[in-house]
Amino acid sequence: MSLGKAGSEAAIGFLVIGAGRMGKLHARHLAGAVDGARLVRVVDADGAAAARAAYGGAESGTDLAAALADPVVQAVVIASPTTLHAEHLMAAARAGKAIFCEKPVAQDLASTAEALAVVADAGVPFQIGFNRRYDPGFAEVARAVHAGELGRVEMFRSQSSDPTPPPEGYVATSGGIYVDSVIHDIDMARFVAGEVTRVTALGRVLVAPYLEKHGDVDTSILTLEFASGAIGVLQNTRRTAYGYDLRVEVHCERGKVVSEAERATNVWRYGEGGIRGDYVYYFLERFRDAYLVEVQAFVSALLAGERPTPGPEDAIESLRVAVAARASLGRGEPVHVAENRE
Ligand SMILES: NC(=O)c1ccc[n+]([C@@H]2O[C@H](COP(=O)([O-])OP(=O)(O)OC[C@H]3O[C@@H](n4cnc5c(N)ncnc54)[C@H](O)[C@@H]3O)[C@@H](O)[C@H]2O)c1
Repeated sequence: MSLGKAGSEAAIGFLVIGAGRMGKLHARHLAGAVDGARLVRVVDADGAAAARAAYGGAESGTDLAAALADPVVQAVVIASPTTLHAEHLMAAARAGKAIFCEKPVAQDLASTAEALAVVADAGVPFQIGFNRRYDPGFAEVARAVHAGELGRVEMFRSQSSDPTPPPEGYVATSGGIYVDSVIHDIDMARFVAGEVTRVTALGRVLVAPYLEKHGDVDTSILTLEFASGAIGVLQNTRRTAYGYDLRVEVHCERGKVVSEAERATNVWRYGEGGIRGDYVYYFLERFRDAYLVEVQAFVSALLAGERPTPGPEDAIESLRVAVAARASLGRGEPVHVAENRE
């Protein structure tokens, strides 16, 4: 694959597939904020949505095969619904394009492995959209732990609280809270503390009764046992009264490193009723920087001829833990992650 030089006309030409919440954001970044990249095409099943995301004069349309046949397209961002990722990934890989794919590749391990095998056969670069690894706070937590600043990890704890549950239409095809949402926490846990060997899930429907009929939950505690001997807990809920609340805490031999919840501003209002601060409403605001930095990292890796990260192993290993968590919830018992290893 021959790739262009940063900032030039020859910058890497990108196609964005799926122009909803995430695709539109990636398209906007690629059209002007990512060094070494340019947005050349946007495809969506809804032509009007594609046109709305065609920033900077990019072409838009509904015909994916035609877009993939365009030699100006050297790389793709896949931001279609999760149920279509594997199909889109395989088509892009067979067309020889470098691939950045939103998480997860698929909701089950077999489809994920099949799609990633096509990527491997094609020899195209691949990055999975585990954006938290590129959040400045979370990345610093990981760096400090990897550098051994506080010694061995003994406990990992994360909390991810969404402001509101997803609508029923989304839940029906999402694959459930573990593969759709907790997978971000799982990936951070793996990134920081290493591989997970066994999980135990405890879940309840306390917020959105319609989740019951999809076998899903909105409130979950997932305990993790790491290969290193460390233990962890991931606490997730689909409701807060105060926006998106994300924290990570890594307890080590000689102290702990913590990424606290971010606020929209650093303003505090002091009054008779107490002290009030702002909050960030949801993921598009909270991870504004990370969504840009992760794609910049992808482009920089392509230009340097390096392997983008997180790659195929992380796409499948984080899913493997999420699938084990889903099984643990269903069976009401701990599940070994290796149970799902072929
Ligand atoms: N990394 C993150 O933090 C994060 C956050 C939200 C969503 N996601 C992931 O991003 C993906 C998209 O989520 P979203 O919230 O943007 O969804 P969305 O529903 O807002 O957007 C999906 C878009 O895909 C389009 N689409 C449907 N069928 C298509 C087809 N055959 N070809 C091309 N486009 C098609 C839809 O018209 C829609 O515009 C999901 O896989 C989700 O898991 C990741």
